[in-house]
Amino acid sequence: MKRHFITLVALAILIWPALAPAADEAQVLSQGAPALAESCAACHGPDGRAQAGIPPLAGNPEAVMRAQLLAFRNDEIPGATVMPRLARGFSEEELKALAAWFAGLDPEEESGSDSNGEQP
Ligand code: HEC
Repeated sequence: MKRHFITLVALAILIWPALAPAADEAQVLSQGAPALAESCAACHGPDGRAQAGIPPLAGNPEAVMRAQLLAFRNDEIPGATVMPRLARGFSEEELKALAAWFAGLDPEEESGSDSNGEQP
């Protein structure tokens, strides 16, 4: 009896990690994007509102950023400095998730926004 219990516990532990990746990939990415985006915060700011000299990301069109990230990854943007190296550290799916994540962020500061709903 006790032996069965131990076997069951061991099985559950073994099976758990196998079950986790079975979740829908898009869902995993949408939940993982905030964590991935943390590696961009050092330069692009925690909310994608960039520091001096670094282009802002928050609210940029998703399709544009997706194209930029994939182009960085393929070394197709002349004059780029760090982004090609960084982009190569992510899968295509992760870069798409990051583009979607930053596109969904508000480019305006919380204070002083006149919130007319228009993007510049
Ligand atoms: C080490 C600093 C640094 C980090 C970290 C960083 N970036 Fe960048 N990013 C830059 C710089 C600098 C540029 C301008 C292009 C270049 O020089 O490579 C840029 C440009 C971009 C652009 C193009 C924006 C435009 O309007 O031209 C996108 C999109 C972008 N980064 C996304 C990301 C994402 C997503 C991450 C996280 C995976 C990230 N960056 C992490 C420094 C950084």
